[in-house]
Amino acid sequence: MTNNRNVQFFAQPGGSLKGRIRVPGDKSISHRSIMLGSIAEGVTEVSGFLEGEDSLATLQAFRAMGVDIEGPDAGRVVVHGVGLHGLKAPSAPLDLGNSGTSMRLLSGLLAGQAFDVEVVGDHSLMSRPMRRVTEPLAGMGAVISTTEKGTAPLRIKGGQKLRGIRYDMPVASAQVKSCLLLAGLYANGQTCVHEPAPTRDHTERMLSGMGYPVTRNNSTACVDGGGKLGATSIDVPADISSAAFFLVGASIAPGSDLLLEHVGINPTRTGVLEILRLMGADIEVLNRHEVGGEPVADLRVQSTQLRGIDIPVAQVPLAIDEFPVLFVAAACAQGRTVLTGAEELRVKESDRIQVMADGLQALGIKAEPTADGMIIEGGSLAGGHVDSKGDHRIAMSFAMAALRASSEISIDDCANVNTSFPGFVELASSVGLSVIDE
Ligand code: S3P
Repeated sequence: MTNNRNVQFFAQPGGSLKGRIRVPGDKSISHRSIMLGSIAEGVTEVSGFLEGEDSLATLQAFRAMGVDIEGPDAGRVVVHGVGLHGLKAPSAPLDLGNSGTSMRLLSGLLAGQAFDVEVVGDHSLMSRPMRRVTEPLAGMGAVISTTEKGTAPLRIKGGQKLRGIRYDMPVASAQVKSCLLLAGLYANGQTCVHEPAPTRDHTERMLSGMGYPVTRNNSTACVDGGGKLGATSIDVPADISSAAFFLVGASIAPGSDLLLEHVGINPTRTGVLEILRLMGADIEVLNRHEVGGEPVADLRVQSTQLRGIDIPVAQVPLAIDEFPVLFVAAACAQGRTVLTGAEELRVKESDRIQVMADGLQALGIKAEPTADGMIIEGGSLAGGHVDSKGDHRIAMSFAMAALRASSEISIDDCANVNTSFPGFVELASSVGLSVIDE
């Protein structure tokens, strides 16, 4: 699962994005379709599943725990659910690669099992903070060890009696919320999680869709332990976080007119649309409808001159994965863009504030990193060499930046693009970005 191969991207300057494409399936929903499908009773059929390394890590973990899973085959996966108590002890530690979502959500689900299990990942994942989940889980009676630094490997002891809690999350995190709700399925009594700001609610929606009651009022979601999940069919929409590269690319590249099909527009994920609109982007939301409890639409984007803004703090959790490419939008905007309240970006797959500031500076942009955000003066992007530090979203963001650069941008350490967006180079090339990988 770990990528040691140093894949580089070479993106040529200029061009425009035109045509219509469907980007791969939503990563968050793909993970949850395997997790919840596995502990449901009956057969869950998934279409549009993201065949990226992260969601495949989740799939392999459940296979290792005895779940019969067919596929993926062109986005189709069939999960033969074993029920809440049907998982079996894996014969080796579960390797979750680069995937924070797999590790954090699974730690909640595994805390409720009868068997011991260890979870590990790649260098990036093994450096990410895990106490945000292990501490509240301990409050529910789970027994989980971390390193002294609070990182993986996580050793989760089975056979514990969990009890429901009320937890006030100190950070707005859908991973923490989902982890605790999954542990709550196995706990005695009620588990309630309060979030300081809205975060993605795919877990709550999918649980409800599978007949497991979730009560939600204002900013608190609650489940009662001891229920059952019913199998269902899940149509995974295209990932708005992957669409975001194209929303920005088509906005900044003159002459662009691009249609992105069947994109998930769950309101807990659409911060990128709101922020780009505030910057003056021309994005139309067409053909709105709902699939399996999630809203989707086609997004048409045409190029415009963007302007710098102060990004509203309330939008930060709703666009948390899109800041690398939004920083590229800010670099191409007229005037100054200021981001605050986004310290979480420092503990993603890389320190996205520092790595993006370094890359933008290398391309001649005035980008000043701050403790919780960045100040970017719009300007002219030169070409040059940047290092993505193995962060998939940073690699793809700098590839899009080439649309407005004066010469080639070469990008190091891009293999992890396959964690969330297999086929990125081919799909981006098909609509006009001149990029190759080597
Ligand atoms: C995710 C939640 C977010 C996001 C991640 C996916 C999820 O993480 O950054 O890519 O699927 O629940 P946080 O909960 O840490 O903000």
